[in-house]
Amino acid sequence: MDTLIESLRGKIAKAPSFAAACEVTVRELRRLVRKFDWVGIYMRQGEELVLAAWDGPEATQHVRIPVGQGICGLAARTGKTVVVADVNADPRYLACFPQTRSEIVVPIYAGDDVIGEIDIDSDKASAFTDEDRQVLESTSALLANLLP
Ligand code: SME
Repeated sequence: MDTLIESLRGKIAKAPSFAAACEVTVRELRRLVRKFDWVGIYMRQGEELVLAAWDGPEATQHVRIPVGQGICGLAARTGKTVVVADVNADPRYLACFPQTRSEIVVPIYAGDDVIGEIDIDSDKASAFTDEDRQVLESTSALLANLLP
């Protein structure tokens, strides 16, 4: 996983814009980690999260999510990483894909403010480990560092 972060660091550093850095991040995370079946980055606009980049087999209908709704909205509201081992057992979950079994959402911070988040769905139950959380929190910090 250290090599994953180093690889991402290099690619993000070469990206010409924040939007391009988000695109490369979702693409590389999905390419390098098999259990990451759908990878998205939402950015906060007021009281909504707006899908900024994604990679996966299909588009989500949830391109705008109110802060406070779903697992994404929960992570934005609390500012904490949320791991859901079994999405079907969590009433807060907003369903996107029938095959999804587990999800992780990691906030992206600018100072004390949540400005966005990385959202990953896996078709595997309980897919996300503490190591995944650490890697994704490091990825979130890499993206945050690009912003003024
Ligand atoms: N499942 C998310 C919605 C976004 S999709 O996973 C792409 C949620 O509960 O907020």
